[in-house]
Amino acid sequence: MTNKFMYFIANWKMFGDLKSLNSLTKVINFSKKQKKKRFKLIYCPPFTLLNLFFNRLKKTNIDLGAQNCHHDFNGTAHTGFVNSKMLKNIGAKYVILGHSENRVAGDTDLTINMKIKSSIKNKLKIIFCIGETNFQKKKKLTHKTISKQIRKGLKGVKNLNNILFAYEPVWAIGTGAVPVNKELKKNINYIKGVLRKNFNLKTPKVLYGGSVNPVNVKNLKEINIIDGFLVGGASQNPNKFIDIVKKTFN
Ligand code: PGA
Repeated sequence: MTNKFMYFIANWKMFGDLKSLNSLTKVINFSKKQKKKRFKLIYCPPFTLLNLFFNRLKKTNIDLGAQNCHHDFNGTAHTGFVNSKMLKNIGAKYVILGHSENRVAGDTDLTINMKIKSSIKNKLKIIFCIGETNFQKKKKLTHKTISKQIRKGLKGVKNLNNILFAYEPVWAIGTGAVPVNKELKKNINYIKGVLRKNFNLKTPKVLYGGSVNPVNVKNLKEINIIDGFLVGGASQNPNKFIDIVKKTFN
């Protein structure tokens, strides 16, 4: 049982259509019923659904986020992209940056750093994803990898207060595998240490992401330094998403 304030972020990735909007009703009702302010739910649907989600969520206590943005926001032409200014304009409060699926698709530490800066300028809160690949884990490069991602991603970033960090080991995303508690605790502690020491962040918020579901969350929540969960696959099912929240507090 945790007494901490927790974040639960639904990352829908490249899924969802007009009908998916119906699945929000259950989650909205559940969120409304929370007595004390114990958690914050954030939905990050694909770009195509942002406006619809905004209208559905605007009178609720659930926040809206996007899954990525282009680093440029000064009026340069980029066919097929969306920038942080446009996301703010549509009503998004958050944006996920540095997700490993986007790192594979071409994001670098430098472009992620530019996206973070542009998002801060446009008053978006950030969910900054970091994590090692299976190869890096096997070579015992986990800490080196995440420390580099943090240092390069945050280079020259002045205000870190609106950044949530999501530790997502790449090998755990969509695979059903999760780190054992001892390893996960060690890595989250390490991330918080880097943020405290090198970035002077007094109370860094670090979430875990990678195959979180209603069963394994009962075990994951025992790591009392985790500040929430970034949920992919399981978040598209409202019952599972609600169950993850419930099991975190029971
Ligand atoms: P998953 O995705 O829960 O489906 O593993 C998590 C994420 O990529 O954010």
